[in-house]
Amino acid sequence: MSNLRIRKLRFDFDDEVPFNWNPGNPAFSTYMNIVSIIAICFEKMVVAAVKEAMPLLADPEAAEEADLFLRQEAQHAAAHRKHVRALIRHHPGLQHTLDEAIAAYDELTASTPLRYRLAYIADLEATFTPFFTMMLDHETSLFRPGDDRVASLLVWHFVEEVEHRSSALVVYDAVVADPFYRTRVLPRVVAHLFRVTRLLCAGINAHVPPAERAIDAHTIRPLPGMIAAIRNRPGPAGGTAIERARPAFAGIGRRTKLRTARRVLLSQNPFHDPAREPLPEFADRWFERFARGEDVCHWYSSSPG
Ligand SMILES: [Fe+2]
Ligand SMILES: [Fe+2]
Repeated sequence: MSNLRIRKLRFDFDDEVPFNWNPGNPAFSTYMNIVSIIAICFEKMVVAAVKEAMPLLADPEAAEEADLFLRQEAQHAAAHRKHVRALIRHHPGLQHTLDEAIAAYDELTASTPLRYRLAYIADLEATFTPFFTMMLDHETSLFRPGDDRVASLLVWHFVEEVEHRSSALVVYDAVVADPFYRTRVLPRVVAHLFRVTRLLCAGINAHVPPAERAIDAHTIRPLPGMIAAIRNRPGPAGGTAIERARPAFAGIGRRTKLRTARRVLLSQNPFHDPAREPLPEFADRWFERFARGEDVCHWYSSSPG
């Protein structure tokens, strides 16, 4: 029996939400805003693909896992929609950027076979546990100083990604039953992701004034972003404030980042088992507080510290 739970949380994004929601780390703010937009489009694709896979799942345990998985993802997409809608209210041009990103995933749903989409989902979801564990292990510097509503949305999403870390692979294995296929299509998956990230960064640069984003969004694209993150080096000293902005993960030790990068790469090997991944201690704390009925939608402001 699956242990996944559906938690219906109400995040309050009715008031203004700053684009640079963690002003001490504008690169991280922008990075997570991109995550918020991708969450809407990617998880829409996940829900469609898993629904399509449902009739093919003969094993009742796999079917139950798939059902809970898609319901968790639907909750995430709905919550991120509220966050992104608040950003669009202030920066209306971002609507076009969101539409472009949704179209890039809708096109995938319309034009690629189910096995490819399940491989895409399994590949990407496999990277989440190591990557989000690194972030949750550093929540006091990455999330705590930021806007509590955005921080609470993100930490909830990330702990649930860790919670359902095996689900995408369960569905993939049950339908595709070829552990090598998802590794074979990885270059195509990465190319699509890079295309979406490029259009998001261009859209943010075009529609959010420099004073509010405080960085050039292109610096956080996957490749330049990863190199800058590992190097920990800000831009040239003589440059503008935007050119000098620190990388999003500058406050995290180099060894931790290299270990995370290694685990992200290993997550793409055909025999990777997410169930054996090391997990963030923060996730246990989050689940305990939720179980006590505390206000997890205002994670930091409702906590004694
Ligand atoms: Fe999700
Ligand atoms: Fe997920």
